[in-house]
Amino acid sequence: MVVPDSKDKMYYPSDDLQKDAHVPGFNSYLALYRKSLETPEAFWKDVADEFFWKTPPVGPMLQYNFDVTKGNIYVKCMEGAKTNICYNVLDRHVRESNLGQKVAYYWEGNSPEQHMTITYSQLLSQVCRCANVLKRLGVKKGDRVSIYLPMIPELVFTMLACARIGAVHSIVFAGFSSESLSERIMDAQSSILVTADGVYRGEKLINLKQIADEALEKCRKKASSSITKCLVVKHPALRTKSGAACNKLQTPWDSECDVWWDEAMRDSPDECEPEWLDAEDPLFILYTSGSTGKPKGVLHTVAGYLLYTSLTFKYVFDHHHDDVYWCTADIGWITGHSYITYGPLANGATGVLFEGIPVHPHVGRFWEIIEKYKVTKFYTAPTAIRLLMKYGQEPLQKYDLSSLRILGTVGEPINPEAWQWYHKVVGQGRCPIVDTFWQTETGGHVLTPLPAATPLKPGSATFPFFGVEPTILNEHGEELEGEAEGYLVFRKPWPGIMRTLYRNHEHFENTYFKKFPGFYVTGDGCRRDKDGYYWITGRIDDMLNVSGHLMSTAEVEAALTEHLAVAEAAVVSRPHKVKGECLYCFVTLKDSREFNHTTVEELKRLVREKIGPVATPDFIQNAPALPKTRSGKIMRRILRKIARNDKDLGDLSTLADPKVVEVLFSHRCEAAA
Ligand code: WTA
Repeated sequence: MVVPDSKDKMYYPSDDLQKDAHVPGFNSYLALYRKSLETPEAFWKDVADEFFWKTPPVGPMLQYNFDVTKGNIYVKCMEGAKTNICYNVLDRHVRESNLGQKVAYYWEGNSPEQHMTITYSQLLSQVCRCANVLKRLGVKKGDRVSIYLPMIPELVFTMLACARIGAVHSIVFAGFSSESLSERIMDAQSSILVTADGVYRGEKLINLKQIADEALEKCRKKASSSITKCLVVKHPALRTKSGAACNKLQTPWDSECDVWWDEAMRDSPDECEPEWLDAEDPLFILYTSGSTGKPKGVLHTVAGYLLYTSLTFKYVFDHHHDDVYWCTADIGWITGHSYITYGPLANGATGVLFEGIPVHPHVGRFWEIIEKYKVTKFYTAPTAIRLLMKYGQEPLQKYDLSSLRILGTVGEPINPEAWQWYHKVVGQGRCPIVDTFWQTETGGHVLTPLPAATPLKPGSATFPFFGVEPTILNEHGEELEGEAEGYLVFRKPWPGIMRTLYRNHEHFENTYFKKFPGFYVTGDGCRRDKDGYYWITGRIDDMLNVSGHLMSTAEVEAALTEHLAVAEAAVVSRPHKVKGECLYCFVTLKDSREFNHTTVEELKRLVREKIGPVATPDFIQNAPALPKTRSGKIMRRILRKIARNDKDLGDLSTLADPKVVEVLFSHRCEAAA
């Protein structure tokens, strides 16, 4: 890595920002980065010293094997130490730092009338009560608890309650279908499901309990129901009289299994001794799409995740105690786990917890909230920025955004146009943009600028975070120096990296460590420029990134082929102005079936039901046949070109029947379905 001297247009941190920054310049970054690699033990020990350890660490901070040829892959952080992450993110502040009255969250609901303020003391008390409820329902250390909740405070209460008693939370994004939920419950073998009666998303009322019940029914049918109790939160918006549009909402009820949250919490004590866990005990499972189509249960453990999310939050958002921080993600994804719950709370931060969507009830909703709470640090996804860009500057001009100091993005590469708009219009040219590259698997940011230290190049995630050693490999696994493009891999672990895939260590080793022994393989392509800046070029496996959500082509294909009329399906990505990428599906129908508008609608509905609305295809085209090699492998490379209407097809010599291509071009979809 070199100190940048590029002629590219760069954006330098302001003096004002550097004045009180934790890492106030590029040289401080380099010095700390060097320390993190040369003396990792001392580096991570200093971080650990901030926290409470029931049994202090005696052994090494990090132990690992990243080389499959030398034995099992493992990573351990602070083995032998005992702690509790919930204690560290709540009790420590309330008891030791007197932060009880500090606001932990400003909750903003789907509609602006819905809001509430939760202090650290209140949060601790609710978490303890929920922990006692879970215990009463029979949850013990090591048990899994599936959580299928919208972005309401109860989601945070439940996840931290699990952490407090040593139960392993498995949060399933509340936009997922009953099928996806059931699959995740069965894989985790959870004993409890926590859900809500319903939720408004924009104008739409969704009967969450009904979806949860359908999922449980699916588990039962597969004789695989581990769930003994379903704890049901009454959504705050459905408690009020006006919300009693909830008369429309029939909450199905099974008195054997279902328990109302309010009733269970009513007389639950608000003190609960934390369970003192081993540093390497599991903290949570979070499912992420796998290229085989079956979701992978990424498992994170207690101590390493605490150190890493806490440190990345502090440095990447240059956190100070008077900040108001807002991450717009949903806690159903890793960004919410690490940067709405654990990282910010570990730092005693004040955050906004937002349930709604950016365009309801009006397209200035984000800006209204920034003004209302005087948000200083704002973290969102490129897809949201592109969506809001469409409405121009006017919606922003109504609000005072002068409180903003740092902006962040996550989830996918940010295109320069969106970067410029974010910088100029939202940040008024004043705020650096931290483009944070990371994954469910990495637990926290791994490539990222530091706001007062790193000169920015729009579209680049810039440099590695402390303790992280990226490298770029070519197809043969050779390391590439200097300017290069290839596979992004990491040479060694940092404390926050996942430890395994739940109940499938072999799949974990095969997926991430087999291709290039000695390295963790991200699955992303990457370019390093002459100044040493890293630029993510996108997935190089069969994964798609739609609006920042990863999904596998295999999982969408599996859903499409469940339709009775479908013989075969192949799915590729196509660039999309707002979503980044969208799904373009090629569908071959069985003989004598006719491809028409109804088929397209049925297929879209099927994918929505099987996976969830995020996976709704934008294009579904009739494919009388698919381009295949002589050995029968679908040539996706060609399908991607057809989806993009790119006639420059390259070498077609391996194609079994070249005529197929012409036919497919003639059936291309011009407009979205
Ligand atoms: C992509 C989300 C470019 C990448 C935290 C990665 C990004 C996948 C960026 C992980 C970024 C995430 N620039 N690409 N700043 N951030 N990605 O597991 O392809 O939902 O592998 O974690 O998103 O998605 P996941």
